[in-house]
Amino acid sequence: MLAAGADALTLGNHVWRRKEIGPYLEASDRVVRPANLASGSPGRGLAVVHAADGAPVAVLNLQGQLFMATPVNPFEVVDALVEEARSQARVVLVDFHAEATSEKIALSRVLDGRVTAVFGTHTHVQTSDARVQPGGTAAITDAGMTGPHDSVIGVKAELAIQRMRTGMGVRFEPATGGVRIEGAVVECDDDGRTLSCEALRVPVP
Ligand SMILES: [Fe+2]
Repeated sequence: MLAAGADALTLGNHVWRRKEIGPYLEASDRVVRPANLASGSPGRGLAVVHAADGAPVAVLNLQGQLFMATPVNPFEVVDALVEEARSQARVVLVDFHAEATSEKIALSRVLDGRVTAVFGTHTHVQTSDARVQPGGTAAITDAGMTGPHDSVIGVKAELAIQRMRTGMGVRFEPATGGVRIEGAVVECDDDGRTLSCEALRVPVP
């Protein structure tokens, strides 16, 4: 994905699915994992990359605690992280990888006026609430999924249903149909002030 042109990548609750990513994360300055994992975890939760015009852009990753096994409360660490990010960049983007819409909206409000944008992720389902909050911070509760939508959140539907119906382990395989690019487009000025925020939803033929 970096080779395809992504400037920075954020991760989530599957970060240790392949533990061998540890040394890679330790060395990478463009791939970040949630900042609120156990202390001593490899890698970091903040990256500073550069926009096309050379402006520094800070990218933060946090993970939610509601309905998820997350070692550290994100609300406990977010202030220090944002302060660190703002000391290095005017444009600050936050990926909050969380299950509950309430937790994602709450963090967006906590950060309103302090960062450029808060993108929720994890559910694979795009929400219809892309907005610029009163304090000027863009937010969307979930940016959605880039992947096959003719599926159960990316997995072949029959396999996901079989696992739910039987409660027995079923090896998941990615589906192939209905591929869409989903995300959000945020426009901001040189000071990191948000001008607009729109959900993005593009079918891939
Ligand atoms: Fe996730």
